[in-house]
Amino acid sequence: MSGKTFTFTVDGIEVTATPGQTIIQACDAAGVYIPRLCHHPDLEPSGHCRVCTCKINGRPASSCTMPAAAGMVVESDTPELNADRRTLIEMLFVEGNHFCPTCEQSGNCELQALGYLLGMTGPTLPYLWPQRELDATHPDIFIDRNRCVLCSRCIRASRTVDGKSVFGFEGRGIHVRLNVDGAHLDETTIAAADKAVHVCPVGCIVIKRTGYRTPYGHRTYDDAPIGSDIEARRAGRKK
Ligand code: SF4
Ligand code: SF4
Ligand code: FES
Repeated sequence: MSGKTFTFTVDGIEVTATPGQTIIQACDAAGVYIPRLCHHPDLEPSGHCRVCTCKINGRPASSCTMPAAAGMVVESDTPELNADRRTLIEMLFVEGNHFCPTCEQSGNCELQALGYLLGMTGPTLPYLWPQRELDATHPDIFIDRNRCVLCSRCIRASRTVDGKSVFGFEGRGIHVRLNVDGAHLDETTIAAADKAVHVCPVGCIVIKRTGYRTPYGHRTYDDAPIGSDIEARRAGRKK
């Protein structure tokens, strides 16, 4: 082992990390999946969703923003933490308008896949049925804000990868919504090739004429639960 690496444990599994890695980055490389929603491997972390919260040396913290450190003891896959994650996911479902059976993203959607992974069944929270805008003005892209989970991936990608700052949030609290830097999407500089268009974890930003190219039943999470690709990197994994 290189002198620059160090180890810590996650649910009793030893993980090797390098200086500068966050807990989730080290775990991904080691094949230990920690549920997450706002984290994207190509973007800087934001800590928006709290789905990746773990107990780190006994205290809760988001694993996508917390740097890994030698000797850390991380708990992730516990009934308590998974119940908290399930509640967070359910809150995102009821505060938007999600009609999975007719959604272009069904089967490719990280929110839906997390609901399945975490055992979300019937709703235990009241639906809010908000009124949210669609924007189909752009020739290649549309936005359905009913499905937005306010993860900020598109904002970060547009700013740091595309160099455009097309997206932002406006409003406060329950009224926060995704905004674009024009009255409508067709007044912005966005293009279908932009990174911001390809990082949405749900079906909010969609490229037109592509939504149903892959039939239901043959999509990313139809065959294996979310996180399976990461877990598959670990030799001798338990799951
Ligand atoms: S964005 Fe995801 S959770 Fe929402 S309706 Fe579409 S598939 Fe369902
Ligand atoms: S549009 Fe998609 S990527 Fe952007 S904040 Fe909403 S859910 Fe996240
Ligand atoms: S994935 Fe860490 S806070 Fe969202």
